[in-house]
Amino acid sequence: MIAKTIIIASDHAGYNLKKIIGDEMSKNGHKVLDIGTNNLDPVDYPDFGHLAAVELLKGDANFGLIFCGTGLGISMAANRHNGIRAALCYDIETARLARSHNDANIMALGARTIEVDIAKRCVDTFINTRFEGGRHLNRVKKIDLTKIERFE
Ligand code: RB5
Repeated sequence: MIAKTIIIASDHAGYNLKKIIGDEMSKNGHKVLDIGTNNLDPVDYPDFGHLAAVELLKGDANFGLIFCGTGLGISMAANRHNGIRAALCYDIETARLARSHNDANIMALGARTIEVDIAKRCVDTFINTRFEGGRHLNRVKKIDLTKIERFE
């Protein structure tokens, strides 16, 4: 196992799952940077989606893991940042393909929609799957609007 540096972030709805996953990752030897939220008090998921994106783009971490009730809102916010590819995953296959085909650098999980055991397996799959490159590279490059010369 290669130790990774992982940013984790959530709103209140994702807090418990973030804590479980973060603790497990630390136990497994990864460096975990928890950027909040830090309790169950209601907060706004975009604040933490944006924060996770900004922190990851600094380049000091390998991946981000973000959590809200569904994983939807927090991934929408993170995906507003060029260079961020946040994938909402819900099983092992989406976690694997998010990395191998989409080169996702953030995985979003819905704490109210996924079993804890599946979430743990998704995380393990996500951080240990390599981007395939090849035919997927140009497609991934086209995701960022700044990299599209003409978009009509
Ligand atoms: C919070 O109640 C909930 O709306 C939020 O966690 C998330 O599911 C939004 O997409």
